[in-house]
Amino acid sequence: MSKIIVAIDGPAGAGKSTIAKLVAGEIGADYIDTGAMYRAVALKLLRTGTDYNDPEALGTLLEAVDVDFSEGRTMLDGEDVSGLIRTPEISALASPSSAIPAVRYKLTDLQQEMGRRKSIVMDGRDIGTVVFPDADFKFFLTASADERARRRTNEMLEKGQEADFEQIKADIIQRDYQDSHREFRPLKKADDAIEIDSSDMTIQQVVDTMMSYIRGEA
Ligand code: DC
Repeated sequence: MSKIIVAIDGPAGAGKSTIAKLVAGEIGADYIDTGAMYRAVALKLLRTGTDYNDPEALGTLLEAVDVDFSEGRTMLDGEDVSGLIRTPEISALASPSSAIPAVRYKLTDLQQEMGRRKSIVMDGRDIGTVVFPDADFKFFLTASADERARRRTNEMLEKGQEADFEQIKADIIQRDYQDSHREFRPLKKADDAIEIDSSDMTIQQVVDTMMSYIRGEA
């Protein structure tokens, strides 16, 4: 297959990263989790006590920040922060800070650069609409808020973490609202994206559905 770009967008907890990783494996592409990049910036904001509403301080931080996603690891200024960015605190900060245009310009540039040379499967909120509007394949992956909260609760329980279904569901609904109502580049289905509701589908069924489009069988 020649170089291809697959964009997978959708709300929090729809299974984008699991699915994107598997699709990337099937087609021999690199997988890039753009949410992890927004989370890494949020971690840096937190660590340095920077207010994202202070344009000067934010500009200084963004000029110096080095965010990369490679081989499944999220790197912040050369440090592997893959584990550190998966906390409710970072989820809560990544959503409003990702609404700031300067943050989005910076990470969009980095993401476009990543797709210049290699085949990639990239997941996020604005990949099919802004980062790669000419992507070869665009998918919009959704699932009901109940189902997404159920999956997240089970994931946490399996890891031995405490999980409160109602709290998780409330957090998901709030992030959906923030991500899709922000003024600048909100979460939105691209007009030409294929929408897949995974509420009643297994992971493999979703991967197979995407692969049938990519192989030109659908
Ligand atoms: O996918 P995630 O939950 O790891 O993303 C964390 C936050 O980053 C989420 O609240 C929305 C934001 N995000 C974004 O605005 N654009 C992207 N392409 C990816 C994530």
